[in-house]
Amino acid sequence: MSLLIKENVLITGGAGFIGSNFIRSACESLGVILVLDALTYAGSDATLSYLKNNGKDFIFFKADVCDSELVSQLIAEYSIEVIIHFAAESHVDRSINSPAAFVQTNLVGTFTLLEAFRHYWIVQGKPDNYRFLHVSTDEVFGSLGPHAPPFCEKALYAPNSPYSASKAGSDHLVRAYCHTYGLPTLITHCANNYGPYQFPEKLIPLMCLNILLGKPLPVYGDG
Ligand SMILES: NC(=O)c1ccc[n+]([C@@H]2O[C@H](COP(=O)([O-])OP(=O)(O)OC[C@H]3O[C@@H](n4cnc5c(N)ncnc54)[C@H](O)[C@@H]3O)[C@@H](O)[C@H]2O)c1
Repeated sequence: MSLLIKENVLITGGAGFIGSNFIRSACESLGVILVLDALTYAGSDATLSYLKNNGKDFIFFKADVCDSELVSQLIAEYSIEVIIHFAAESHVDRSINSPAAFVQTNLVGTFTLLEAFRHYWIVQGKPDNYRFLHVSTDEVFGSLGPHAPPFCEKALYAPNSPYSASKAGSDHLVRAYCHTYGLPTLITHCANNYGPYQFPEKLIPLMCLNILLGKPLPVYGDG
């Protein structure tokens, strides 16, 4: 992957699975690396420990995206021009058992970041090179049947779990901030990822670990 990011970038959720892999791929192209992460059960600053050893300027804030005072302070203090927003509660099964944290982090957290960034962007004269990149999921479009065509940007929203509903709600806020205030935003809807540093509650790492340990392989319904 070839990236060149000259602006001051704040990365939320950078200690999680995708955020830490993104930083690993992009770190040569980033100036000072600023990460805000609450280090929930899903995040670990060990995923970023290599940065300390390879001479990169790296600042880590252990903080909640819902902390509006702190978020506003960081954006102003570090003159943030780009936010890459990975931070989320991300596990569907947990959202079924305990949905409140999903509404709080995914919806209120995204709102908090948008508001803080909008105010700073206005004070700076609404520069058009600023960006709020919201990392969402294809799950906001619901499920695909075996012969259905793939989702596209025009697919209708049909979230099926508290996780995907909270992500769908955050997408709508991001879209509304672009439409209402002109804030330069982007939304991505990737499908499921797997790879290094993924918390082993997700399907592929869970299956791999269970195979290695000789444990049963859990599947939903008839699999
Ligand atoms: N993993 C996938 O397959 C997949 C697919 C599509 C979209 N996504 C999206 O990509 C993003 C990253 O996913 P992931 O798999 O890396 O998730 P993850 O659960 O591995 O990491 C999430 C990170 O966010 C942090 N976090 C959680 N709540 C926070 C809060 N209130 N304040 C600050 N930090 C907080 C956690 O500590 C963790 O480091 C999420 O927005 C997710 O919805 C993931």
